Amino acid sequence: SKGVNGLEKVVLRESRGSSAEVYLFGGHVTSWKNDHSEELLFVSSKAIFKPPKAIRGGIPICFPQFGGLGSLEQHGFARNRFWAVDTDPPPFPVPTSSRAYVDLILRPSEDDMKIWPHSYEFRLRVALGPGGDLMLTSRIRNTNTDGKPFAFTFAYHTYFSVSDISEVRVEGLETLDYLDNLQNRERFTEQGDAITFESEVDKIYLSTPTKIAILDHEKKRTFVIRKEGLPDAVVWNPWDKKAKAMTDFGDDEYKHMLCVEAAAIEKPITLKPGEEWKGRQELSAVPSSYCSGQ
Ligand code: BG6
Repeated sequence: SKGVNGLEKVVLRESRGSSAEVYLFGGHVTSWKNDHSEELLFVSSKAIFKPPKAIRGGIPICFPQFGGLGSLEQHGFARNRFWAVDTDPPPFPVPTSSRAYVDLILRPSEDDMKIWPHSYEFRLRVALGPGGDLMLTSRIRNTNTDGKPFAFTFAYHTYFSVSDISEVRVEGLETLDYLDNLQNRERFTEQGDAITFESEVDKIYLSTPTKIAILDHEKKRTFVIRKEGLPDAVVWNPWDKKAKAMTDFGDDEYKHMLCVEAAAIEKPITLKPGEEWKGRQELSAVPSSYCSGQ
């Protein structure tokens, strides 16, 4: 169906009422709703749905480069290319029980080969589980015929919707090492308790557990992120000054979002011709009262 500015999108609906929307531009998830029709992802009210600018919010895909350190544009180019629906995907090792899914594919154009001279197939499956969980599986294959390996970094740049950033805690990253993007990626060790927020944060946590939780006190909701093949996790909130500097982001919107991004950054993934890498994230949103330990 058609989304903002006539851009094509795929809408997924699961029988109990949850839903998701995926734009072919960017292979970008822009909506994930639970069975009460509550939006769980943040998309800026100022988001510009106009290629080639990536959509501000939802789940942009950062590939083949996370961040701005490298030869490519910030966060690579996958998030501002047009993906295609993959009508004949090869079988997935883990079958999806739900029928609410879509398979997308990205292959390099001739122009892309000029800026990143590698041939690949990037298959993305977006699926809604029976309980409304949102699952993203990326499979990237090196299809170079020149015998050359390639290396890339990657992130699911997920923008979660939260009621009030100052009431939010992240659990699962305590005592870990991180690279601070605000200090030239210098390495530090996180001290103490769960992570809370009172100023700009832009950190790459290294070798994290496979499960991370975002506790939203006010909404009485906990997001659980489970990831595979993605050792790192980026935590980002622009806070007031950076928010004002972004044209596609409202001045006060930083209060209502938090990016926690399942990623592979510190150690780039290298693929030889014919090799395939898989990276998965599974998101669930549960009422806090049902969570143990609270
Ligand atoms: C985060 C980065 O993942 O994305 C930040 O760690 C960056 O450094 C942010 O500012 C947003 O990036 P962009 O390119 O979408 O404005």
